[in-house]
Order: sequence, then structure tokens, then C-alpha cells
Amino acid sequence: MKSILFLPLVTLSLAAPLEERKCKPTCTSYVANYDDLPFNDGSANPINLYNNLNYTTFQVDAYDGFIPPTSFSNWAMAFGGSGNISVPKSDRKKTFELNSFSYACVSGVPQPECRISIWGFKAHGQVIKRDITFPRLDPGHPIEDFMMNRTTFNGQWKDLKSVGFSIARADNGGDMFGGLALDDLGYEIVERPCM
Ligand SMILES: *[C@@H]1O[C@H](CO)[C@@H](O)[C@H](O)[C@H]1NC(C)=O
Ligand SMILES: *[C@@H]1O[C@H](CO)[C@@H](O)[C@H](O)[C@H]1NC(C)=O
Ligand SMILES: *[C@@H]1O[C@H](CO)[C@@H](O)[C@H](O)[C@H]1NC(C)=O
Repeated sequence: MKSILFLPLVTLSLAAPLEERKCKPTCTSYVANYDDLPFNDGSANPINLYNNLNYTTFQVDAYDGFIPPTSFSNWAMAFGGSGNISVPKSDRKKTFELNSFSYACVSGVPQPECRISIWGFKAHGQVIKRDITFPRLDPGHPIEDFMMNRTTFNGQWKDLKSVGFSIARADNGGDMFGGLALDDLGYEIVERPCM
């Protein structure tokens, strides 16, 4: 008699952890360095679905003797200064958490201080924003003085579906007439099987 009474209780307590295990998110870390992607000089080099993220307007671009990529020899370049990096729409269960990247505004020497606006579009519609700057580049420097800068992102930059970028002059908001280069983009892809 006793064992029959206990049975439903036992079944319940086993079923809950099993369900939890099935729904547990999986998390995979990446550092996108673009160095294994083909680059053909003189043609468009779109970045299509690279390490689980897709790129709008950003292209593969190779070191040309000016600012060196932090990992050789490619970086991702948005030639007009704005672009998006997103989880493909078809990957409903995936989001990403942005950790870090190297960046440079690339319009030559001299160039004014550059403001880079970054929007994070989250899975549930929330939009977050952050501005960073890349310093002005003045003539009279050896080429070695020009390098990418690097930044890290706090824990707010998670549950992302897309990250959008645009650049402008930091002093007056005017056009930079240049590109935005990114390299060594660190992020985690989170997949929620029960999302
Ligand atoms: C990636 O983005 C490009 C450009 O926006 C688009 O043409 C392509 O269909 C996208 N690929 C995926 C897998 O979503
Ligand atoms: C940021 O970039 C500027 C211009 O290339 C460079 O002079 C400076 O050393 C960089 N700073 C860091 C911390 O990398
Ligand atoms: C990036 O994508 C979001 C969502 O699809 C869109 O609203 C935004 O305008 C895009 N931004 C850029 C700079 O392409």
C-alpha cells in the first residue's frame, strides 16, 4: 500500500528536472577574426553567416598598409560607416551576447575624432545604445602610431538579435566620409531550445 501512495510523488520529482534539462540554454563562445574568409581585391566581399552571425554592409577587407587589424590579415569593414550584425531571422531560438571588439574609423590622415553609435536590438524588442569614440588622427606621426582601439561590453549586451552601427564626427555630428572597421569580435551564441 505504502509504495503505491509514494509512486506519483516520485514520478513528479523526476519529471521536473528532465524538463529543465531539455530546456537548458546552450552557450557557445566565438571570436570572429575574419582571417579565414576569402578576400578578392576589387570586388565585393560580403560576410554571409559567419560563426552564427550574419553581416549587413560589413565586408571582408584585408590589411592595406594603414591601420593594422588586431588579428592578421582581415577585418570586417562597413565602407559607409553603418551596418548590422545579426542572428539570422530563421534562427528563432538563438540570441547573442556581445563581449568585445577592436574598432577603427578609417577615413585617412588627418581625420577628426569619430563617434561610433552602437544599438543593441534585443529579442523582446528592447533597444539599448552606447557611444564610443575613436581618436582623431593627425599628420606628422609614424604609421605605427595608428592602431585599432578595443572595448568590452557589460552584461546588459545580451539577448541580442542584432547590433547596429553608425559613425559621425564627434565634434559636430557631421559625416566622417569613411568606414568602420571591426576585428576580433567576441560574443556568445545562446540557444534556448524551449524559446
Ligand atoms: C545575410 O544577410 C544578407 C544581407 O542582408 C542577406 O542577403 C542574406 O540572406 C542573409 N543570410 C541569412 C542566412 O540570413
Ligand atoms: C587608439 O587609437 C589611436 C589611433 O590609432 C592610437 O594612437 C591609440 O594608441 C589607441 N589606444 C589604444 C589604447 O589602443
Ligand atoms: C539594424 O537592424 C535593425 C533591426 O533589424 C534596424 O532597425 C536598424 O535600422 C538597423 N541599423 C543599421 C545601422 O543598419
